[in-house]
Amino acid sequence: MANKPVKRLADYKAPAFLISALDLTFELHDTQTRVTAVSTLTKNGTDPLLRLDGEQLELVSVELDGKAVTPRFEEGQLVIEVAKDSATLKIVTQIDPTANTALEGLYRSGGAFCTQCEAEGFRRITYFLDRPDVLAVYTTKVIADKAQYPQLLSNGNLVESGELEGGRHFATWHDPHPKPCYLFALVAGDFDLLEDSFTTASGRDVLLQIFVDKGRRVQARHAMEALKFSMKWDEDTYGLEYDLDRFMIVAVDFFNMGAMENKGLNIFNAKYVLADDDTATDQDFDNIAAIIAHEYFHNWTGNRVTCRDWFQLSLKEGLTVFRDQQFSSDWAGSSATRIKEAQVIRTLQFAEDAGPMSHPIRPLEVAEMNNFYTVTVYNKGAEVIRMLNGLLGKAGFRAGMDLYFKRHDGQAVTCDDFVDAMADANDVDLSRFKGWYRQSGTPVLTVREIWENGHYGLKLSQLTPPTSDQAEKGPLPLPFAIELLGHGKDVLQLQDAEQTFALGQFDEKPILAPLCGFSAPVKLVFEQSDDELAALMEKASDGFVRVDAAERLLQRLVAAWLQGQEHPALELWLRSLHGIATRPLTDAFLDAELFKVPSVNAMQGWFEQIDLDGLVAARQRLRSQVRERLFAVLHDRYQMVKDVKEKGARALTNSLLTLLAEPLEQGVFDRYQQARNMTERQGALAAAVAGDLANSDALLADFAERFEDNPQVMDKWLMLQGQRSGALKRMGKVMEHSAFNWNNPNRTRALIGTFIATNPECHTEAGYQWLSEVLPKLDAINPQATARMVGPLLQWRRFDQKRRQGLEALLKGLQTPHTSADLGELLGKALK
Ligand code: PHE
Ligand code: ZN
Repeated sequence: MANKPVKRLADYKAPAFLISALDLTFELHDTQTRVTAVSTLTKNGTDPLLRLDGEQLELVSVELDGKAVTPRFEEGQLVIEVAKDSATLKIVTQIDPTANTALEGLYRSGGAFCTQCEAEGFRRITYFLDRPDVLAVYTTKVIADKAQYPQLLSNGNLVESGELEGGRHFATWHDPHPKPCYLFALVAGDFDLLEDSFTTASGRDVLLQIFVDKGRRVQARHAMEALKFSMKWDEDTYGLEYDLDRFMIVAVDFFNMGAMENKGLNIFNAKYVLADDDTATDQDFDNIAAIIAHEYFHNWTGNRVTCRDWFQLSLKEGLTVFRDQQFSSDWAGSSATRIKEAQVIRTLQFAEDAGPMSHPIRPLEVAEMNNFYTVTVYNKGAEVIRMLNGLLGKAGFRAGMDLYFKRHDGQAVTCDDFVDAMADANDVDLSRFKGWYRQSGTPVLTVREIWENGHYGLKLSQLTPPTSDQAEKGPLPLPFAIELLGHGKDVLQLQDAEQTFALGQFDEKPILAPLCGFSAPVKLVFEQSDDELAALMEKASDGFVRVDAAERLLQRLVAAWLQGQEHPALELWLRSLHGIATRPLTDAFLDAELFKVPSVNAMQGWFEQIDLDGLVAARQRLRSQVRERLFAVLHDRYQMVKDVKEKGARALTNSLLTLLAEPLEQGVFDRYQQARNMTERQGALAAAVAGDLANSDALLADFAERFEDNPQVMDKWLMLQGQRSGALKRMGKVMEHSAFNWNNPNRTRALIGTFIATNPECHTEAGYQWLSEVLPKLDAINPQATARMVGPLLQWRRFDQKRRQGLEALLKGLQTPHTSADLGELLGKALK
């Protein structure tokens, strides 16, 4: 295996050299691109040895102050001795962008050149100090064939462009803001362009440009609206203005992640730009707005103030996710927004904490940095910022942000610097709060009620079980938001391992709604009565509490079923659903969540050991109970909302249709055929697949025919193929379909990633056999994308004995001399 050495946060050392300016020249050719990099170096200490990172490069020449030097290589780095305190270094390298299927560094795909440098991709372009604490001013000259690549883009402002011999042309860009190399970007291609403009609060006119594949300009309009709204929102909310004359977004179909915040030239996965009613769902529209906002917000939280080292990733990502969540609740917010955020934590992040990849939001050790773009760093990181925001209040948080920018604009800093700014601006001590950055794992919060002589109170205790990476845990300060039904709300600040809170005198014991708004990323243990849970499910004012109460009821029920027993929770759950379905409709988004039967994945989080067959059967049984017992009332509600032209109604219709798919077979078919937009069409198709209806084959075939020219829509088709029952035996055929492409991570993630993450057929002998063939092939093409798919397999120790053995054999079989560093690190941890 290509193992990378482990790096530790504790070993951080400032760089031996600084690079104040970098002049780049790219002579773009499809397979032989030449890169000339001229760095202005200064010593940052006494060490005369300059050690430059480089991977997959062909070195052409090195000159120091105009004189050729013969460098040596040590541990994969290029080592040059620099005698003087400052020098000019010129390095020429050659690379092959067409052969680059890993999509890191400079690659060519879909007929365009494009770069991806975060985290450590710049070293695949030239030898460099590829670390975020080296900030330089970039000037970039791009040269390419004019007919094939009419648009030549890089960071900053365009300073010059012109014609060259042989049908070639050039453009030179200058970015005045010093930046780390991970924010460098270059694009060359032939795109359609959507333009607009924005005037900042201080009167600067900014040209806005979105570059998309030919023929798809109108599909960028929603992204443009979201961009303008984001720019205004950041001015209004944080006083942050854009700082260049233009802001560009390029949408590409070959991209490993969601999008990238390169200075002034964001590069997006096309699925987070392109949308119209016929091809994108309401959820897609919301995701696009959230990601456009996220990348735009990075201009301040990430670019103007960046990370000292990659252990600090949550400094920019946790904060920017929190900011995009705030934005989303202003832009398109519904009661379901927060519920979905909580779901990400409770299904994906808690699972990460429970497995071999457990790490604090600021990891202590990293081998392959690509593996740390995790739900822990991003989403739990955002929850930590959210708690800080709650603790300090809106004004206090804003004061902290202001101080953070005042102190650190133009610097590469740490998470501690951020928290210190928050503490100093508010004159509070946050030293204990910093524990959230150091400690991994999910705190278990146990709630006990005290009810004596009319006095009601709570005894809260917290305990974080040991995780694979960290045995010792301590208590963390956490906000516990509550509602006493009919008596109002409060936030209890738990500081210690155990604390008692008196909540006053009451005539009757009040009903407690715990953890309102998912106020802290914890697991709740609370032996509340079934009746109280049913009451919460129907009546709590907080949406998260209502959905959570339903889940807690179902958890009891499923636990009993797994033991071959019955449980009264079933009747209570059905009765509450009945009540919700028959009362006047007040919040369709929320009801859409309440009328979903939790996924098998969500159920896995309820138990330490995974009884997969038991959970699949339990889920089927829940679905059939709802159908049999509530068909009439749910169908009435379905009739009531199905033609309402409004987002919430569409969400509710889709949930109801999914629940009622089997008895409503013809209804599903009609809904699909008569769909007025993609939300309706995809909802009906998903319902057919969820119910494994006889007509699902015909509908899937129809869908493929209608949308074969649209890769983003065909990803929805591939996802359904990955999810459906009988997926495995159809895989061969699906992979032969023109919609599938081994080299495109959107395609492979949609089909194979979805299969691994959601399909119980993955966990069969045949499933493991199939993966043992597919995963090495994928890993050879694109290590990062492959590593991002295998998370669920790493949980192998939680399965039954037979699956444990099957998974262990699969994972061991993947460890070969050809395994990538990305996959290798995960396998090593999982099998330790
Ligand atoms: N920094 C990007 C974001 O979250 C994510 C990303 C990481 C993209 C690594 C590509 C590679 O906004
Ligand atoms: Zn980000």
